[in-house]
Amino acid sequence: MGKISLPARSDSSKPNDNESTHGCVCGRVEINNESSEMQTALHTGRVVLVTGAAIGNGMAFAAEFARQGAQVVLGDIVEPTEALALLRSIPNALDPVAIELDVTSEDSTRAMSSEIKSRFGRLDVLVNNAGIYDEEPFELLSLDTWKKVMDVNLNGLFLATKAVLPLMKQQQYGRIINLSSDTVFLGTPYLVHYVTSKMGVIGFTRALATEVGKYGITVNAITIGLTATQRPPGTRLTQGNILEHVLGTQAIGRSETPEDIARIVSFLACDASGIITGQTINVDGGIARH
Ligand SMILES: NC(=O)c1ccc[n+]([C@@H]2O[C@H](COP(=O)([O-])OP(=O)(O)OC[C@H]3O[C@@H](n4cnc5c(N)ncnc54)[C@H](O)[C@@H]3O)[C@@H](O)[C@H]2O)c1
Repeated sequence: MGKISLPARSDSSKPNDNESTHGCVCGRVEINNESSEMQTALHTGRVVLVTGAAIGNGMAFAAEFARQGAQVVLGDIVEPTEALALLRSIPNALDPVAIELDVTSEDSTRAMSSEIKSRFGRLDVLVNNAGIYDEEPFELLSLDTWKKVMDVNLNGLFLATKAVLPLMKQQQYGRIINLSSDTVFLGTPYLVHYVTSKMGVIGFTRALATEVGKYGITVNAITIGLTATQRPPGTRLTQGNILEHVLGTQAIGRSETPEDIARIVSFLACDASGIITGQTINVDGGIARH
């Protein structure tokens, strides 16, 4: 696949930008004039990488970007068979590209960045979604498990971001969205390793946002609640289903879905959110207050 041609864009991360010059705002834009009616998808012309996109939330994020006109790159350690099929079933979506990616490996993240550069010449959006979690009481938590979680959830965040930042800096535009968890506010038990890593995601987001804002790059985190993905965490709670338990603590009376989160990720990735950076947006149906 060659480079895709991109419409001229302005960048609302930069001051005095006039959004109305190109019509890319959040939500589909309908332009009516005397002779024509046209619809422009939110992320048309953008190249988007979602890490950990084979299943779960990552797959839903990738699908949302594909629906909104983006060229999507799926990065995962496993073959994203289901995600590829889902994206290819979306009418008018660009053909997705799958790249074998282990976010814990510097060789792998560098190779991913080179491949994106040679195929598309740019990367507009990075969604740092790859993450692992497993419940373990602190007293049983081994150093090995602790390191494994830090390796994917923090070193992976560092390596994937470091690999693509030069591309974003060169084009003076970028959106980085990092997946954290509402467990950082709740102090959820049996997840000390995970909660620690996800708090690290927030620190990373804040400090990096300050460094790269001058290049038109925004960096934000979302803390999500327990979501019905294909691999929900273990059911250490003894009574009933963990999703039902969580639902009882939410202000909104329905479970959070990957599609709910995908729309927030899409918003943070769009031009219109360019003045938001270094923030942590809590998306959990109203359990934690932030
Ligand atoms: N599902 C939830 O309830 C929930 C709640 C809070 C936060 N989160 C966060 O959302 C993100 C996605 O969660 P999910 O539930 O969809 O997870 P999931 O386990 O369903 O999917 C994770 C994906 O990441 C991939 N992955 C794992 N290690 C990788 C590596 N080294 N390199 C590249 N890819 C790798 C896996 O192959 C998988 O496709 C994670 O960061 C997670 O911490 C999830």
